[in-house]
Amino acid sequence: MGTEAQLAAVAAEVRGCTRCPLARGRTLAVPGEGNPHTDVLCVGEGPGGREDATGRPFVGPAGQLLSELLRSIGWERGDVFITNVVKCRPPGNRDPEPSEISACSEYLDRQEGALDPAVVVTLGRHSLQRYLPGARIGEVHGTLRRSGGRHIFPMYHPAAALHQSSLRETLFRDIRGLPAALLTAREAIESERASALESAPLEGAGTPGTPPPGPSPDASDDQLTLF
Ligand code: URA
Ligand code: SF4
Repeated sequence: MGTEAQLAAVAAEVRGCTRCPLARGRTLAVPGEGNPHTDVLCVGEGPGGREDATGRPFVGPAGQLLSELLRSIGWERGDVFITNVVKCRPPGNRDPEPSEISACSEYLDRQEGALDPAVVVTLGRHSLQRYLPGARIGEVHGTLRRSGGRHIFPMYHPAAALHQSSLRETLFRDIRGLPAALLTAREAIESERASALESAPLEGAGTPGTPPPGPSPDASDDQLTLF
């Protein structure tokens, strides 16, 4: 199955999901949306009121700030993929319970597997905990981290800046480092791939000089592309 078909299959399952108690309080489940060819996956916490009403992620006030943040580095929402650790709105916008996060995690696992992003941008605590358990946002925000095979770029949740205006500046400063983090992550992925090939050359695995398969652009491109 191709990436788009895998993402569509996850979305269809999410819309009918009753795996956890959040199913009962939702209007619409919010699977996530974005570019299936992107190298950047943004993961928030869970849908709020407007997301629950529309079935789309980050379309309320926090979403407007996220769009502004992306625009500040020349990106659009449609250049990335945006989703959440839980796909249904917790009642009254309370924090999701650990049991709800774990019931829902298989969907995010599959979205991540389908997209295979070079960088995962975590937005807020719950998303950070999934990738970097025990990490403190105050220490890791705006820096590129490794978790298992993934590169993680932790950020504060945009909603936090709506309540605490000093965080707004931090968010804009942090996101300015994201394009360089994406390049660094891609270079690391490429060189790991190359050394894996070197140490275990596969019979017939491509002719020397053939560019590697996949969406990674030529590292010498002046313009940073996202696909
Ligand atoms: N906050 C989130 O964490 N996710 C959304 O989709 C909207 C607001
Ligand atoms: Fe299913 Fe996730 Fe919604 Fe719970 S939050 S009902 S696990 S989609």
